Amino acid sequence: MTEPLVSVEGLVKRFYLKGQNYVGAVNGISFEIGRGETLGLVGESGSGKTTVGRCLLRLVEPTSGRIRFEGSDISRLTMRELKPLRSHLQMVFQDPFASLNPRRTVRQTVEEPLALQRDAPAGTWLRIATEMLERVGLGPQYLNRLPIELTASEQQRVGIARALITSPKLVVLDEPTSTLDPTVREDILGLLRSLQTSMSVAYLFISHDIMAVERLCHRVAVIYLGHIVEQAPTAAIMSDPRHPYTRALMSAVLSPDPTHRLPRNPFNYP
Ligand SMILES: Nc1ncnc2c1ncn2[C@@H]1O[C@H](COP(=O)(O)OP(=O)(O)O)[C@@H](O)[C@H]1O
Ligand SMILES: [Mg+2]
Repeated sequence: MTEPLVSVEGLVKRFYLKGQNYVGAVNGISFEIGRGETLGLVGESGSGKTTVGRCLLRLVEPTSGRIRFEGSDISRLTMRELKPLRSHLQMVFQDPFASLNPRRTVRQTVEEPLALQRDAPAGTWLRIATEMLERVGLGPQYLNRLPIELTASEQQRVGIARALITSPKLVVLDEPTSTLDPTVREDILGLLRSLQTSMSVAYLFISHDIMAVERLCHRVAVIYLGHIVEQAPTAAIMSDPRHPYTRALMSAVLSPDPTHRLPRNPFNYP
């Protein structure tokens, strides 16, 4: 078997509060992501999804466990050792407006990863940024705009352009459509799919929306209180969910009643 792009083994993240008290956000999870593949990570709010994504990019420090990227363990690298890998590991955030610097223009925002990467000479950044914006459906008239002058969909397109401009191998998409209108959501999911094909990028797609997951993901891992309870190809999960939590999650997502909540820890995870 060929080596996966990302391989996570026994990942644990505890947030320490006062003294010895801690929140066990991620409680020993393992998964792999192949090159150019999309793995969906689904679960309710508070189940640990964002923490997993942030650990993969070392935006938070894992408590224990291994994270291999192209075979080498990145979980113990210093920030300096990690720097050359940064352009290959990117993230698109849940709230597009909050994730953009309000004082920076679209051009400055999208060019910034090129400046950090220092591979391309500064004289080429404008051309590369213009081309990347074009790929996310934004013309050159957007270059000098500020985030506040953009619609939510345009803001998220800028976030996607920024994440993809250095041709990363992995992008963590943290609920990238959850704050968008349903009509716009479809466009963004379609865009993410077509960019994946043209740029051969792998995604970790974090979501609580099973329907979005079905559209985008090759495989799905279901996370519950920091544990992965089920992991399978998308079609198998959709047609034959094995774990009772997966079934409950699917029925909750499909329920028209937004007050429908799952009971807390019905399966007695620690
Ligand atoms: N910086 C933090 N400090 C303390 N607890 C945190 C922190 N970040 C997340 N948590 C807790 O970890 C758990 C998982 O959070 P999170 O990864 O954000 O879940 P999700 O993205 O699935 O909603 C939650 O109980 C949350 O309150
Ligand atoms: Mg989250």
